[in-house]
Amino acid sequence: MITAQIQTAAYLFASILFILSLGGLSSQESAKRGVLYGIIGMAIAILSTVLGDGAEGHVYILIAIAIASLIGIIVARKVEMTSMPQLVAILHSFVGLAAVLVGFGSYLDPETHLLIGAEHTIHLVEVFIGVFIGAITFTGSIVAWGKLDGKIRSKPLAYKGRHVVNIILVIITIALGVLFAQALGVEGIMYLYIMTAIASFIGVMLVMAIGGADMPVVVSMLNSYSGWAAAAAGFMLGNDLLIVTGALVGSSGAILSIIMCEAMNRSFLSVIFGGFGDTPQGEAKAIEGEVTATTHEELAELLKEAKSVVIVPGYGMAVAKAQYPVKELVDLLQKNGTKVQFGIHPVAGRLPGHMNVLLAEANVSYDIVMEMEEVNHDLPETDVVMVIGANDIVNPGAEEDETSPIYGMPVIQVWNAKSVIVMKRSMAVGYAGVQNPLFYKENTDMLYGDAKDSVDKINMALKA
Ligand code: TAP
Repeated sequence: MITAQIQTAAYLFASILFILSLGGLSSQESAKRGVLYGIIGMAIAILSTVLGDGAEGHVYILIAIAIASLIGIIVARKVEMTSMPQLVAILHSFVGLAAVLVGFGSYLDPETHLLIGAEHTIHLVEVFIGVFIGAITFTGSIVAWGKLDGKIRSKPLAYKGRHVVNIILVIITIALGVLFAQALGVEGIMYLYIMTAIASFIGVMLVMAIGGADMPVVVSMLNSYSGWAAAAAGFMLGNDLLIVTGALVGSSGAILSIIMCEAMNRSFLSVIFGGFGDTPQGEAKAIEGEVTATTHEELAELLKEAKSVVIVPGYGMAVAKAQYPVKELVDLLQKNGTKVQFGIHPVAGRLPGHMNVLLAEANVSYDIVMEMEEVNHDLPETDVVMVIGANDIVNPGAEEDETSPIYGMPVIQVWNAKSVIVMKRSMAVGYAGVQNPLFYKENTDMLYGDAKDSVDKINMALKA
């Protein structure tokens, strides 16, 4: 067992490793190193906690960690890359629940009743805020999981006057907080119960009111909440490392949410408060034009002639696991002297960086993977754009149709290229559930079929 001083030093070291880890994750080249720092930091954090004060009783913690690790390994191995956001959402709910339990535990802990004066009040405020954030995170994350998994309708459920109801609930919560802080002994537990119920309700309503294209921001926002919930638990337990780690997760989640909102031209506040006045008005614009289809052979011929090709991957490429044949296609085209680039939309797929991860997995070189702004600039000079399993992120309605639910979201302007080929299985809508006028444009052809099958067939035709 280690002394408190060694434990503090270990916590400090782990905190530094966590900061280095976040720094490493900011670029693809250093991401692996970042993950390694995170693993080492977490191992040090767990070890120094388990070996610290009261180590004899920690055998139970070790057993719990062993069981939880086993479950974690099984779940992580089983989960499909496309279901990752659901997994992340449900894991956030655990952090929220943990903060609620720590809050109740800490309130009922006889030792904390020895605190007096300001120290006692501060402790009660920590408990109250910790349980409040934890309960919102818990229920909000469960609803987010349901929506992402298709168990709950993704459409925003917004009733009139919900903002007023939310504000009233927050005022009641503050009043309960005051009563809670004044209660003697554990008499305040009733106020804590009522507040937990209110916070749980707010969590459900906040996330129910958000839907469609705003869901990615919600997941990252819940990530941030789970960080603050962990930090609050850190205050209650007097654990500095938990406070630092929670604050890192909380602030990085908030920064990511803001970046995503900017990428989607959404107001951060309107997303967080469940679409404050941004509901589209009026009837959807009628789509003009005809849909035309092409074949794998025709597309292969077109690609042979093309000097420049841009590939825009989306969720469908992930579902079909088409990244490997896509990499082969890139090699074939490059051999033919064609300039190939990828255009990556910030919310393509179902989680931040989804496409980048898949392309890295298939060993696609980073320097041909472009961000939306860069590729939009190059599109007017591009011969062929291949949209592989993407839909919302290439929807011109986001720019032209004010009634569209995704109006205002910047998109990859593939229609500016000479020819556009959209590879998907049908005319079905994407995540946001809106029709795509791109499919009806004169320079667009559809190539129906599973993305992996289609790319395999194109590769065969190119080799022939
Ligand atoms: P989507 O708009 O969802 O479109 C994907 C398309 O892929 C579908 O229209 C589907 O059409 C097609 N598809 C599905 N399986 C396929 C297969 N096996 N082979 C070929 N095509 C297949 O995807 P996107 O363009 O990537 O846009 C992402 C959307 O998800 C945005 O609305 C975004 O806001 C939202 N979202 C993003 C995130 C993050 S953080 N990235 C998280 C949650 C939600 P068919 O059925 O006709 O094949």
